[in-house]
Amino acid sequence: MLRLLFLQIFVLNLLVAVPSSLEFSRDDFPPDFIFGSGTSAYQVSGGSSKREDGRTPSIWDTYADAGKAHGATGDVACDGYHKYREDVQLMVDIGLDAYRFSISWSRLIPNGRGPINPRGLQYYNNLINELVSHGIQPHVTLHNYDHPQALEDEYGGWVSRKIVRDFPEYAGVCFREFGDRVSFWTTINEPNAFMLGGYDLGFLPPQRCSPPYGYCSRGNSPSEPYIAAHNILLAHASAARLYKKKYQDKQHGMIGLSIYMWWFIPLTDTKEDAIATQRANAFHYGWFLNPLVFGDYPNIMKQSVGTRMPAFTNQESKLVKGSFDFIGVLHCTNIYVKHNSNSPKMENRDVFMDAEIELTVIEDSSSAFELPIMPWCLQAVLEYLKQDYGNPPIYIYENGQRMQRNSTLNDIARVNFMHAYIGGVLDALRNGSNTRGYFVWAFLDLFELLDGYISSYGINYVDLDDPDLKRYPKFSAKWYSKFLKGRSINLDEAIELEKNTSSLSHSHFQ
Ligand SMILES: *[C@@H]1O[C@H](CO)[C@@H](O)[C@H](O)[C@H]1NC(C)=O
Ligand SMILES: *[C@@H]1O[C@H](CO)[C@@H](O)[C@H](O)[C@H]1NC(C)=O
Repeated sequence: MLRLLFLQIFVLNLLVAVPSSLEFSRDDFPPDFIFGSGTSAYQVSGGSSKREDGRTPSIWDTYADAGKAHGATGDVACDGYHKYREDVQLMVDIGLDAYRFSISWSRLIPNGRGPINPRGLQYYNNLINELVSHGIQPHVTLHNYDHPQALEDEYGGWVSRKIVRDFPEYAGVCFREFGDRVSFWTTINEPNAFMLGGYDLGFLPPQRCSPPYGYCSRGNSPSEPYIAAHNILLAHASAARLYKKKYQDKQHGMIGLSIYMWWFIPLTDTKEDAIATQRANAFHYGWFLNPLVFGDYPNIMKQSVGTRMPAFTNQESKLVKGSFDFIGVLHCTNIYVKHNSNSPKMENRDVFMDAEIELTVIEDSSSAFELPIMPWCLQAVLEYLKQDYGNPPIYIYENGQRMQRNSTLNDIARVNFMHAYIGGVLDALRNGSNTRGYFVWAFLDLFELLDGYISSYGINYVDLDDPDLKRYPKFSAKWYSKFLKGRSINLDEAIELEKNTSSLSHSHFQ
C-alpha cells in the first residue's frame, strides 16, 4: 500500500514538475520531423520581381501600388529575386531542413494562362537547384493571395468558374517543370482568411465586397465568398487529381492545402457562446475541411446560408473528397467567440452573420505588438484536427512572433514564443498528433500583408536603409540554429548568454 502510494506520487510529480514543453531537444522529435522557415513571393521577392523579366502584376501589386498597404509595397521587399543565393547560404548556416516559399503565378505565366515566361521559369529553377544542392527541402505554395491581375480583369478571378480550369493548368506547369526536385506542394494558402479579407469585408485584394460589410467598387459579400471558396476547392481538387494521376508515382511527393487556424474560445461560459464556437469552427475550418475530408460542406453552413451556398454535384464531391495528402496549418493566436443573433434577413447576410458570431481579440495590454504566448492553443488546434478530421498529416507552415520592426536584434520575445510553441508541438506529437513539420514565420523581415514594414516576424533582420539590403541573424535565428544542431536548450541560459554577447544588437540599434 505504501509503495503504491509512493509510486503514484512519483508519477504525478513527473507530470507536474517536468512538462516536456520546458526542457527538450531536437532528439525528442521523430528523426524525420522537418524544421524550416518560410516566406512568400510578393512579400520577399521584390520590385525587381514586379515587371522585371516579364512578370505582370498580381492583385497584390495593384492594391499596394494604389497606396492601400500603409503606403508600402513589395516593389523592393527583401530583393529575394536577386539575393536567393545569399539567402540559401543563411538557411544552411542556421541549419534549416526546409524552406517554404511561394511561386508568383504571374511571374511564371504572365497572362495567367498560356505561354510560360522563360525568365520566370529560370528563376524558380535556380532557386530550387540552390536549395536542393544545399540539402534544403523546398516546400512550395502555388497561390498566396496573389492571382494574376490579368485574370481578375478578364473574368473576376476566383469568382469565375473559368479559374477552375486555369489554376490546375498553372499547377501542372509547376509539377512538370519542378516536381523532380519539389516533393511538397500546397495549392492554396489559407483560403479561409483570403475569403474574409478579399471577398466579404473587402479590405484586402481583390477588394470585392458590398455594404454594409465593406465599401468596394464591386463584389457581393453575401454570395461571393461562398462562390470563390467553391471554385478554390474545385481548382485545388483538380490540381491534386492531376498531380496524383500524372506525377505522384514518379515524383513521390505530397500535395495539400493550408488553413489559417485561430483557436476559437467562447467569450463567456454561457451555452450560447459554446454553441457559437462550434459554428465558428464550422464556418472557418469546416467550410474547407469538411469537403476535403467528407465531400460536402458542414450541415450547419448549408442550413444557414441556404441557396447562396453552392452545392457539390456527386462528381464534384468525389473529386474534392480525399484530395489532399496533408493539411498545412497556419497558427499564431486565439480569438474569442460571442453568439450574435442580430442577423438581417437571410439573403443579405455575410459569412459572420450567417455564422451568427462576433469575434473579439483580447489584446495583451503589456504590448500591443507582440502576440500572447499560448502554445496550448496550437495544441488544441492539432487535437481538433486529430479528433474531428481523422488526424491527417500536418505541416505547421506558419507560426511566429510579431514584433516592431527595427526594435532589436535581441528578440528574446520571439525566442520565448518559438520555444513555447515548439514545446507545445512536441506535447501534441506525444499525444498522437500526426504533425510532420514546423516552419517558423518568417525567414526574413519581409513585407507583411497586414502591416507593410511596420511589424516584422523575421528571424533575420533586413536593413532596408542599406542599398544592399544586408541580412543580420537575430537572436532567434541563433537560438533556432542551436536547437536544430541538436544542442540541448536551456532557455534561461541561452538568454543570459545572448545578453552578454550580442554586441551587434547594441551597436546596430539605438
Ligand atoms: C490527448 O489525446 C486524447 C485522445 O485523443 C484526448 O482525449 C486528450 O484530450 C488529448 N489531450 C490533450 C491535452 O490534447
Ligand atoms: C527602421 O530604422 C531605419 C533606420 O535604421 C529607419 O529609416 C526606418 O524608418 C525604421 N523603420 C521603422 C518602421 O521604424
